[in-house]
Amino acid sequence: MSLVVGNWKMALSHKGELELARALKRQCKGDLRGEVIVCPSFPALAAVSALLARSQVAVGAQAVHWEETGAVTGAVSVTQIAPFVKWCIVGHSETRWLWTMTDEMVVNQVGILLRHGITPIVCLGETREERDRDLTVTKITKQTQGLLQGLTRTALAKLVIAYEPIWAISANDPVTLPDPDEVASAMLLIRKLAAERFDSEAAQRLRIIYGGSVNAETIGPYAREPGVNGVLVGSASLQPRRFLEIIEAVIDAS
Ligand code: PGA
Repeated sequence: MSLVVGNWKMALSHKGELELARALKRQCKGDLRGEVIVCPSFPALAAVSALLARSQVAVGAQAVHWEETGAVTGAVSVTQIAPFVKWCIVGHSETRWLWTMTDEMVVNQVGILLRHGITPIVCLGETREERDRDLTVTKITKQTQGLLQGLTRTALAKLVIAYEPIWAISANDPVTLPDPDEVASAMLLIRKLAAERFDSEAAQRLRIIYGGSVNAETIGPYAREPGVNGVLVGSASLQPRRFLEIIEAVIDAS
């Protein structure tokens, strides 16, 4: 089962988000043979989830706070998103930066989401500087091990890991995109670490998706890599036609 996750970030107006949801509802028909998820802004979650009810498209949040409740101005808690979402992005590099998040906070978010029946999509990956200093393996290992330490084997089967090399996000330049082999090796490393923490069956079952400047033109080689279970898409998820082309490419490759 392949996943295609659209991360709308802060890109559209409220009206624009509702129009996009309506267009996706019209266009995502038939058996998609995969799971399509869109992640609107917090203020649009209720309306978009109502619009997409009984459609082929599920709704996720872009983030959640790592405490269940509290005096935290400007934050959004799990119980505030729970009526509207089945999925939630966790630890996206932009959120980690905005909230100066630690790996422990990411683990807390994962636990809280799972307790509320929401599937976490946990983002990890290296910066350009780390890559240039040959620290990609070190960074992925640290983030993955930090995550795995706080999980049970059952919990691992319920989440999704999104490998997003930070330098490839919003790259707008195909030359700077990672080689599909690099993506495959990063995912192999994550599965190896999962096998070390649990066992190879648990590692094989783990869903890992790729994110970073995915669009209809760039997706082919990534979607065809055997270990890639789907994609996390930012800017190319903002136009229904473009997003649909990505969904079709992922389905064709799976
Ligand atoms: P992008 O965003 O597809 O625009 O690079 C991906 C992401 O940040 O999840």
